[in-house]
Amino acid sequence: MSQKRVLLIIGGGISAYKTPELVRALERRGIGCRVILTHAGSQFVTPLALASLTRDEVHQELFNLTQEARMGHIELSRSADLVVVAPATADLIGKLANGLANDLASTALLATDKPVMMAPAMNVRMWHHPAVQRNVATLAGDGVSFIGPDEGAMACGEYGLGRMAEPEAIATAIEARLNAASSKSQSLHGKRALVTAGPTLEPLDPVRFLSNRSSGKQGYAIAAALAEAGAEVTLVSGPTALNDVAGVTMVRVESARDMLAACRNALPADIFVAVAAVADWRPEVAAPVKLKLKEPDAAPILKLAENPDILSEIAKPGPNRPDLVIGFAAETHDVLAYAAAKRSRKKCDWVVANDVSGDVMGGETNRVILVTQDGHQDWPLAHKSDVARRLTAEIASHFSS
Ligand code: CTP
Repeated sequence: MSQKRVLLIIGGGISAYKTPELVRALERRGIGCRVILTHAGSQFVTPLALASLTRDEVHQELFNLTQEARMGHIELSRSADLVVVAPATADLIGKLANGLANDLASTALLATDKPVMMAPAMNVRMWHHPAVQRNVATLAGDGVSFIGPDEGAMACGEYGLGRMAEPEAIATAIEARLNAASSKSQSLHGKRALVTAGPTLEPLDPVRFLSNRSSGKQGYAIAAALAEAGAEVTLVSGPTALNDVAGVTMVRVESARDMLAACRNALPADIFVAVAAVADWRPEVAAPVKLKLKEPDAAPILKLAENPDILSEIAKPGPNRPDLVIGFAAETHDVLAYAAAKRSRKKCDWVVANDVSGDVMGGETNRVILVTQDGHQDWPLAHKSDVARRLTAEIASHFSS
């Protein structure tokens, strides 16, 4: 297999001095590097050091006759498997978030069709500035992954969040990302996975129903990531506007009861991930709901009947219980406490808790807490596909340990 290659864009921050170490950490992992060094970056690390380590020329100018003839900015941006910005300054983050391109680094970032990872580094107050956080959220929504920043003492003398992640940590994240994208990491090969996603739709009559705002994006991303890792995946989905996931067996349903039946049908499975926002209640109607209700004289009183709890049903001990059962917990407050309670009440192994008080439902990003038997991990805000890949990596390591 050909060597994986990263386009490393070095912004102008003090931590640029650590990038030769990053180049070497990548080299130890067999990952090649081509470098774009911004003018500000060259104040902290020399082009010569980087050229010696990468055994390649270091690209600095947008309009450079000789370099453009050999490798123009468009080709530069596309020649790598992954683009990494380290340190990612507030300036570079802001430019990409707003589609600006006025130098080689920002132009290459805008012109690339490859995944982009950023390792931010800046003063703690800058990192927490609403404008920077807005730009980070925009980029996460566009699919950019973030590594760090870390918390600690800073070169400016302050303490807090904003230090660039250590080169080893960045190199490990890059390697994981490259491996996830390559077919050699079929870590879940031979495993069967069942995923539920989307809302359920509970009919009142042939034209009216009760439902919720779930878009299905997180569940679909998990099904895709599990399939990418080699699992044989069935996705039981409530009504969504999303396309079928390639390489996944799709079962489209409407109501909670149909979703449970479809799940039972898809067993046995090794992994069950219940992402669907299943309606806990359905209108109690004379089945089948064929006749449209006519407007009553007074405000009608809806009678509701309890829906089956699909997660609890599938998690029940027995020969068909999947080895690993993962529930989701959408909460608006006391997220961790409710998630831990839900894990034991529903007898699942892990719970992925998310705070849905913002615009998670329907949005592109998610900030989750993974609650397992060993404790919990807070994951940073990330694109739903990154959350899915990280969860898949945790699942794979569960089965490999
Ligand atoms: N779930 C399910 N079947 C249901 C309700 C929920 O499979 N009838 C699953 C969801 O897919 C999710 C988990 O249970 O994995 C948590 O769902 P949530 O609606 O947050 O929890 P509830 O049990 O409804 O608790 P509460 O409404 O009190 O938060």
